[in-house]
Amino acid sequence: MNTIIRKTDVENIDMDIIKEAGDVIRHGGLVAFPTETVYGLGADGMDATASAKIYAAKGRPSDNPLILHIADLETLDKIASEIPKKAKLLMDKFWPGPMTLIFKKKAEVPYGTTGGLETVAVRYPEHPVALELIKAAGTPIAAPSANTSGRPSPTKAEHVIEDMDGKIDMILDGGQVGIGIESTIVDVTQDIPMILRPGYITKAMVEEVVGEVSVDKVVQAKSIEELGGDYAPKAPGMKYKHYAPKAELTMFEGDVNKVIEVINRKTAEDELDGEKVGIIATDESKHLYKSGRVVSIGSRKDEESIARGLYGILRDFDDMGVDVIYSETFYDDNLGQAIMNRLIKAAGYKIIAVDGE
Ligand code: TXA
Ligand code: MG
Repeated sequence: MNTIIRKTDVENIDMDIIKEAGDVIRHGGLVAFPTETVYGLGADGMDATASAKIYAAKGRPSDNPLILHIADLETLDKIASEIPKKAKLLMDKFWPGPMTLIFKKKAEVPYGTTGGLETVAVRYPEHPVALELIKAAGTPIAAPSANTSGRPSPTKAEHVIEDMDGKIDMILDGGQVGIGIESTIVDVTQDIPMILRPGYITKAMVEEVVGEVSVDKVVQAKSIEELGGDYAPKAPGMKYKHYAPKAELTMFEGDVNKVIEVINRKTAEDELDGEKVGIIATDESKHLYKSGRVVSIGSRKDEESIARGLYGILRDFDDMGVDVIYSETFYDDNLGQAIMNRLIKAAGYKIIAVDGE
């Protein structure tokens, strides 16, 4: 398949391009597009045949449901059978924006979009290109992140091209996204809302609006054992190894100076064995590493810069062809919870404590 790539200025959107992309979706095709979090891979979410193409292009397991993206609140009434009071409060505060809400679905939403579930995930994004595309398509757009299943999510069009060129109809290039990690997912079908996936909107921000909030225990687990053998995450996608670079990623936890010392030692050993080592450092620590391909993920003083840099760095290491990657860890409160959640999953739960060494 020949994938059409169209650049569009976010401030001054070319409506001819949007119309062309909207037509592709209307006719059951696939269009990748920018949102404020990551790039999405969109299809008509009310058409099971169109959604099926998303699973094929990504190599995504069919039990992993898709998020429906809307551009006005009227459309929500067509897909959600019940909108609880706490959901309304969250919508008032955070929509449009990086929050996905789980509702009971209406019969019209195909099981092919919800992975067979009776619930549907809905997001009202804030990105102007995403909003115009949804309006032009005239239908809720089902869109997962536009990466091959298991790879880091795309934060710029080049990442989408790497994974999807030749597999989808069109890519809308709206440049680098602003946030860099996926939306916060909140299940509002239960009385106490539950965070299924942390994101830019933190637990504290959600609590401020609806009071008590719970967090699915997979979100905070630092080892698979911690979860117990048969615990299934509430968001099916959270069970897969994810966001993973090609090289094995190991995280080191503890006092930063000790962490740096250990990473320096391990890097020297690996290089003697002829291995190429990538190191995830910060603006504050990068000059303290003695060898390896050292890349700063951002500044510890600015968590948003770390979120923005995360997936791009993992892909850059793939391009450099490193054999192993060593990373520092980050505080896991506020936005740090989402950052650590993604890094731990990318590392396949490989975290080594260095305290007491
Ligand atoms: O920021 C985002 O949310 C991006 C952009 C493109 O909007 N989308 C995204 O989609 O991250 P995806 O498919 O990569 O992740 C969606 C997550 C998966 O873990 C999936 O299992 C979960 O949402 N999910 C979808 N529908 C669900 C449902 N009905 N109940 C529970 N979890 C659901
Ligand atoms: Mg994804």
